[in-house]
Amino acid sequence: MTFSPAPWPRKLRSQEWYGGNGRDTIYHRGWMKNQGHPHDLFDGRPVIGILNTWSDLTPCNGHLRELAEKVKAGIWEAGGFPVEVPVFSASENTFRPTAMMFRNLAALSIEEQMRGQPIDGAVLLVGCDKTTPSLLMAAASTDLPSIVVTGGPMLNGYFRGERVGSGTHLWKFSEAVKAGEMTQEEFLEAEESMSRSSGTCNTMGTASTMASMAEALGMALSGNAAIPAVDSRRRVMAQLSGRRIVQMVKDDLKPSDIMSKAAFENAIRCNGAIGGSTNAVIHLLAIAGRVGVDLTLDDWDRCGRDVATIVNLMPSGKYLMEEFFYAGGLPVVLKRLGEGGQLNRDALTVSGETIWDEVKGVRNWNEDVILPLDQALTQQGGIAVLRGNLAPDGAVLKPSAASPHLLKHRGRAVVFEDIDDYKAQINDEALDIDETCVMVLRNCGPKGYPGMAEVGNMGLPPKVLKKGITDMVRISDARMSGTAYGTVILHTSPEAAAGGPLAVVRSGDMIEVDVAERRIHLDIPDEELSARLAAWRPNHEQPESGYAWLHQAHVQGADTGADLDFLKGCRGAPVGKDSH
Ligand code: FES
Repeated sequence: MTFSPAPWPRKLRSQEWYGGNGRDTIYHRGWMKNQGHPHDLFDGRPVIGILNTWSDLTPCNGHLRELAEKVKAGIWEAGGFPVEVPVFSASENTFRPTAMMFRNLAALSIEEQMRGQPIDGAVLLVGCDKTTPSLLMAAASTDLPSIVVTGGPMLNGYFRGERVGSGTHLWKFSEAVKAGEMTQEEFLEAEESMSRSSGTCNTMGTASTMASMAEALGMALSGNAAIPAVDSRRRVMAQLSGRRIVQMVKDDLKPSDIMSKAAFENAIRCNGAIGGSTNAVIHLLAIAGRVGVDLTLDDWDRCGRDVATIVNLMPSGKYLMEEFFYAGGLPVVLKRLGEGGQLNRDALTVSGETIWDEVKGVRNWNEDVILPLDQALTQQGGIAVLRGNLAPDGAVLKPSAASPHLLKHRGRAVVFEDIDDYKAQINDEALDIDETCVMVLRNCGPKGYPGMAEVGNMGLPPKVLKKGITDMVRISDARMSGTAYGTVILHTSPEAAAGGPLAVVRSGDMIEVDVAERRIHLDIPDEELSARLAAWRPNHEQPESGYAWLHQAHVQGADTGADLDFLKGCRGAPVGKDSH
């Protein structure tokens, strides 16, 4: 893609606040001077907002204030004026009912923070799962020049000599306790080894996936995704990104120049190659909706179908992000895709260069971490999109995290009405279930939970685990943590709370899944399905006020990104009226 930089110098939007010598300018400028800023900082140089998702309650982003100082240094060096702005930070590990319910609220508030304030460009300082997509959605809707800097993953965890992956081992250890293979005391001891440095999850969970998506989209400097949080090169990356955003503003290089359909196709293929999180499906659809790119679930299946998973990281493989960085990180993967004809090489990046120019010269330093193609974890690594009478608008499955013997399966449904029903029944020895059954969980979608919680990877019943069985087919309208694994079919659309067929499955019905054929089928006569749907009535609570009401009234289905309907699209960043 060719990009023609805008002429420089020219008047920037921040000058609508700080330019000239009128009363209003003196008001805006004078207030800023109470922070000790010299007069010449307001001379028309780019004002860069460092949108910081630091929070003590988002521990994954707990080091971002320190990193912001390096971003500032880079902005100063390049002749810009940095201003650090705290923004909504939704932590995956604490926010209730689920951080996903607040991704759109964060995007809404940050979009207005960008539009309503005197900034010309933004550094998106992010890390934990929802922080990356929410800021990218805001940047896409304002279309102000923006660059992503992620906080980077934690160092490897180790317990008794073995690697411990964030999330992944939480699920493993908890199942081991249920199966009687690990004591509660050992589980508590393992807790101490899980988070041994600053940073995000060290697996290829959603945070690392979204960092990779930002880089594959071209919205971060090459190599950003994998650098550990505490590595000095993370701070170098922050400083270089600070320098770069100043030039991006001068050139007027905007998100809409970078996040083209070609860029999204690159990101989808990259997700398959890294064995990335299913959450990327929802987030990329939402970001595309903001920037005006027509991206659908079918694009995920089309682009990802023949992509081999070559990154040997948990939850699909055995290593962690630290080793991925030492092996060369995401640029090696993108180069592989480019060599295999699976990269749109001309896609533009924040550097002003094409993605191919950024990666063509890199080397793979560890072929056990980034695998040769003939040793890929799976040759069909992309997200599989299943359709059928149980999911007319689609459902997704991550083949690299699934058990091959379950990819074609017919089994008896065991239905859980919601997550509380699941918790109440799953440990009951009298529950009529075995490993051939299909576990069905409903009312956990965007409207149903509300917010679409990461509960789709339901733990197996203890009586099945005790037989040494570690996987069963599970179907829900929920999401799954990017650190989780199993033959788990997610995002079933329309969701049960919106009257989708999932709402009328009954325990005892037979369900067929055939991933190769992309098929999911409830084996009952069409007339019976129609009669059940006609008799269905909503049974979830409608909040009467507050954000929960807004979310419930306007959230869209997972198949289109679960954004709020009125937030789709790019609204730009007009400077608006001055109220003084
Ligand atoms: Fe925040 Fe994984 S929970 S990065």
